Amino acid sequence: MSPLQQSAVDVTSRHRAKVITFFQQKGGAGKSTDAINVAAVMGENNPPEPGKPCPVVACGVDVQGSMEEWASKVPEERLPFDYVITKGRVGELRKLVEDPDVLRIIVDTPGFADIDPNAPIDAEDPLGFGPAAEAMREVLELTDLALVPIVPVETLTHKPAEFTVERLLRPRNIPFRMVINNWDSGTDRTRADLKEMQDWCREREYPFMSQAIRRYKMHAQAPAKGLTVIQYPESGTALRAREDFYKIALGIEGLI
Ligand SMILES: Nc1ncnc2c1ncn2[C@@H]1O[C@H](COP(=O)(O)OP(=O)(O)OP(=O)(O)O)[C@@H](O)[C@H]1O
Ligand SMILES: [Mg+2]
Repeated sequence: MSPLQQSAVDVTSRHRAKVITFFQQKGGAGKSTDAINVAAVMGENNPPEPGKPCPVVACGVDVQGSMEEWASKVPEERLPFDYVITKGRVGELRKLVEDPDVLRIIVDTPGFADIDPNAPIDAEDPLGFGPAAEAMREVLELTDLALVPIVPVETLTHKPAEFTVERLLRPRNIPFRMVINNWDSGTDRTRADLKEMQDWCREREYPFMSQAIRRYKMHAQAPAKGLTVIQYPESGTALRAREDFYKIALGIEGLI
């Protein structure tokens, strides 16, 4: 084998965890909710071997630390994933990616990326400079699959989602899926709102996860109670609320 072939083998056989990242400029679309619950389902499916750390790691670059606050409320023995808060420190995510014990990293990003207000509209990289921009660049560079939450009817989440795709993801060729989140299936009986959201994606050629995440009060109450979907009590509603995340997690596994 030539040295070149040998180095190709070394590179491909080197361990690399898969990075799944939630991006969306607009706050409140569901990045943290979705990230925590996807991590919980993946963690449940990939329990640690005895004496080993969890192979699933939730990673918050969010300086508000909403993931940290949430995870800190879940009793340690019930948390099916490890979590790391980088607080914008560059290099931490890369270390995690190369950690041989880590299989999946689910990243929650801040709602307000450090966008350079003076960047021309067609600038390839609107992130600007400064530590928050550097941290975001690192996350983007290491992301295997980007997920962009959008909320039907809540049009304020739509333009920022488009911005996220057009300015951050497409220029970097990062594979992405829109995640229709917080869909009020109770009032949208005819599915008109859901369909409108899906058509919005189709018009822009934005692929979307086939499973929408429905709106359940349980999800909104979960952070305060220190729960993730896998700890929801056994009830019909809880099963439905959980089902969405099981399907999303399964869909993600098929894409990475
Ligand atoms: N599927 C859902 N069902 C019910 N409530 C939801 C759902 N998704 C999100 N929410 C609620 O909407 C609010 C915003 O969600 P979340 O904090 O996950 O958004 P975010 O994108 O992380 O926002 P930020 O950018 O500010 O961090 C929260 O109160 C959350 O509980
Ligand atoms: Mg958040």
